Amino acid sequence: MAESTPTTNGQATTASALPLGSREYAEYLTAQDPLKHLRAEFFIPSKADLARQTLPGNDTTTTSSHDESVYLCGNSLGLQPRRVSQRLQQYLSAWATQGVQGHFKALTDSPLPAWLHSDDAAAKAMSPIVGAAPAEIAVMETLTANLHFILSAFYRPEVGGRHKIIIESKAFPSDHFAVESQIRHHNLQPSTSMITIDPPTGTSLLPTSHILATIDEHASTTAVLLLPGIQFYTGQLLDIKTITAYAQERGIFVVWDLAHAVGNVPLQLHDWNVDAAAWCTYKYLNSGPGAIGGMFVHERNSRVTTTSSSNGATNGEKKGVEEKEFHPRLAGWWGSDKKTRFAMTNNFSPIPGAGGFQVSNPSTNDLTTVCASLEVFNLTSISALRAKSLELTAYLESRLLSLQKKSGGFKIITPSNPSERGAQLSVQLEGGLLEGVMEELGAQGVIVDERMPDVIRVAPAPIYNNAVDVWRFMDVFEKALTTVRKGRDGGKGEGGEVEKVVTN
Ligand SMILES: Cc1ncc(COP(=O)(O)O)c(C=O)c1O
Repeated sequence: MAESTPTTNGQATTASALPLGSREYAEYLTAQDPLKHLRAEFFIPSKADLARQTLPGNDTTTTSSHDESVYLCGNSLGLQPRRVSQRLQQYLSAWATQGVQGHFKALTDSPLPAWLHSDDAAAKAMSPIVGAAPAEIAVMETLTANLHFILSAFYRPEVGGRHKIIIESKAFPSDHFAVESQIRHHNLQPSTSMITIDPPTGTSLLPTSHILATIDEHASTTAVLLLPGIQFYTGQLLDIKTITAYAQERGIFVVWDLAHAVGNVPLQLHDWNVDAAAWCTYKYLNSGPGAIGGMFVHERNSRVTTTSSSNGATNGEKKGVEEKEFHPRLAGWWGSDKKTRFAMTNNFSPIPGAGGFQVSNPSTNDLTTVCASLEVFNLTSISALRAKSLELTAYLESRLLSLQKKSGGFKIITPSNPSERGAQLSVQLEGGLLEGVMEELGAQGVIVDERMPDVIRVAPAPIYNNAVDVWRFMDVFEKALTTVRKGRDGGKGEGGEVEKVVTN
């Protein structure tokens, strides 16, 4: 990296001449970023915005580039893409001028489809993000609801046979509740039918070998394995392909919760032969709080075959009746063939693929937002985003490690191997620091999130973050850590008489 680059004082320099911890080096990295133009696609809240108690109205400098906050929280809620409001406005105009006609009529000067086809448009846009055919994807409902729909179709416990569901012991509570309730729904008990994988003693990560050993232990009695693509607390990226194949060879149906993986790391759900998966769109997919979720069902699990029978024969006349064979599921009209859906008969004729698992007519509002957000992904590719993400997170890690060496006070619990993590690093603080550090960060316009009891999650999202964001975070974090430790230790500062967190 010996290229020349202008610095803030206007003089050309070489990257190697810049101290790695300097803002100038972060500016250099940002200037070299081939995806830097994508930041302009998003509203980056200013510090003044974050302090507001009222809506901005027309009189403010909202989201202008001066005084930008440092937003490293795409793991929780992604920022708003600017084109969302334009697309929503187009949808609202269609609704205002067309009323119910909008279901079937696309306006010729609008990029939006007739609402009837918004679900297909969203599935198509999602296809490169999750590595699946559009027909294997349904953009529908919400993450936990989709887990329920998947489990209700594919968890068919046999008493005395396969009845267990394996999940991790630190699963996101909603996944835990979904599994527990599914087990009870079948009149079984979580105490015997729910297997939770604990990390090996004294650690917080789940090595692949450890997961495979648990699968082996329960292989003949397990029906379903449900794991997170990326663990929400530690940021660990699991080896989806290996774990899926291993469990399937033992007759287990494999489901992934991709909340923290989708839009963050490349996924090949079809080629990895994943059975089914669910995700949300409000984190790295930037579609807004509580926005519609996604579901993947591998095409081999969602085929619909048609057979002819003579069951419908009347008056001795042989009459062929078509019968559909498909995997049983909780059904609704939106999963039924579009061509016959509005005939209002009581024959459920599922769409082959994940679309056949849809239940209700989806919110066009949400689908419009998801599609608008995915337009931004279409300006680049998941592999280009991943390449940037690897660099950005490595840069954050190197800054954290050098601060840790200097003053301690925290450790990174996310794997240090880049292929075992996404954008997020989880930083575990020494006891008694979390609240104070979060307050200091917030006061300086730095947005990250916390997970009790002692972790802050820092996630540079490659689609809108840059190295300067990381540098600014580190600047504030270092000061916050020093101040809060001093306060906690009664003015003694670093090295106070507290348990030190050891690096792993
Ligand atoms: C890993 C994981 N699973 C499940 C959920 C629950 O998602 P929802 O409320 O969309 O059902 C979340 C929410 O953040 C999550 O992070």
